[in-house]
Amino acid sequence: MRQKLLNEGASELSYEIREIVKKADQLKKLGLTISWENIGDPIQKNHKLPQWIKDIVSDLVSKDDTYSYCPSKGMLETREFLAKQTNDLGGVQITAEDICFFNGLGDAISKAYQFISRTSRVIGPSPAYSTHSSAEAAHAAHEPLTYRLDPNNKWYPDLDDLYNKVKYNPNIVGILIINPDNPTGMVYPLETLRRIVDIAKEFNLFLIADEIYINITYNGARAYALSEIIDDVPGISMKGISKELPWPGARCGWMEYYNRDKDEDFNRFCNALDNAKMIEVCSTKLPQLAIPKILGDSRFKAYREETNKNIGRRSKIIADILHTVPELTFNETFGAFYNTIIFREGTLKPHQEMKIDNPKIKMLVEAWVNHQDIPMDKRFVYYLLGAKGICVVPISSFCSELQGFRVTLLEEDEEVLTKTFSAIRDGIVEYLHS
Ligand SMILES: Cc1ncc(COP(=O)(O)O)c(C=O)c1O
Repeated sequence: MRQKLLNEGASELSYEIREIVKKADQLKKLGLTISWENIGDPIQKNHKLPQWIKDIVSDLVSKDDTYSYCPSKGMLETREFLAKQTNDLGGVQITAEDICFFNGLGDAISKAYQFISRTSRVIGPSPAYSTHSSAEAAHAAHEPLTYRLDPNNKWYPDLDDLYNKVKYNPNIVGILIINPDNPTGMVYPLETLRRIVDIAKEFNLFLIADEIYINITYNGARAYALSEIIDDVPGISMKGISKELPWPGARCGWMEYYNRDKDEDFNRFCNALDNAKMIEVCSTKLPQLAIPKILGDSRFKAYREETNKNIGRRSKIIADILHTVPELTFNETFGAFYNTIIFREGTLKPHQEMKIDNPKIKMLVEAWVNHQDIPMDKRFVYYLLGAKGICVVPISSFCSELQGFRVTLLEEDEEVLTKTFSAIRDGIVEYLHS
């Protein structure tokens, strides 16, 4: 090429949650049956939407108007419906004009960081959900900036770490919260959220809250929305239907802008996001039409409560199986549908193995782990895949110095769930004592 083609930030783009699938597919070709514990898609894990939801969608599909473009920011009635839902929480008040639809939160996330000035940074949690950390790092052409979530304190954020990083890095303009969190399943306590708002006030920052799991809490937990605690700080809440409906294939999410009138810079940023969507014309229309009909239906609350209760029960089953392994730091989860399990320091060693019967699979796994610089948790993950056919994601891939792995809580058949997690436990014990 006559000039440099690739942007420097491109090397920051990675998505191990799907990268691991390439490895699993290679083993599948060799005859291994894979249990997919890597991807947060309830539908892929056999969750069935209730018939009344499918009927609403079918009805929309049969109408001619469904097939046209919609307004750039999204259907007005839907934005009015969502604004009311937020306003009913009693915190910051918004109108339909403060909402913009995107093609899934993935689209919203990549746009949000793209339009932040290159030298300005948003600090986010570590372990980090890679769609945020990669997009933020790619915009800055630097590695992600993170604050620590502490596995020894229920995965709550280390607020001293956050405060000090914000204080000593004047480039930080925003703080990202993922509440409930992916990959830890932690729900931010109210006091912690209030403290983060205080930090934002002290240093004149804005807040981003990824709230895609905001209505997925269980076992007594409740997640406080950004709109409830933000006071007069500028902020963006990101919400969507991929997880809570769940309809991830709809590619439908939205941003809610809070306190645009309090900061002109922030207001211009929100306008730029709206304009970015405008030059793309608009986002997917069918799911937008469905949202008020489904989320506004009296059956939805009961359906979501029941689904959450089931996730909560599975969370406990997993806890019962894994919390007794002394080499692990295990935290019970209260939101979203993941758990991140950490190996205690010094327990993972470079010679450990799990028995793999199939010689071809054994050879392939050994070739993968035979790299000097392979993180030790990734080595474990490859052995678990080869020996037990269970596909999980290493935590070192979530911008974390910790060693561990992320599982999902999505397997609906509790017998299969018990079998899978018992096999994970047995694999860990065998590996650590090999
Ligand atoms: C925290 C978080 N934000 C955003 C997304 C992406 O959502 P969408 O399907 O709307 O792109 C995910 C998907 O797993 C997620 O876990």
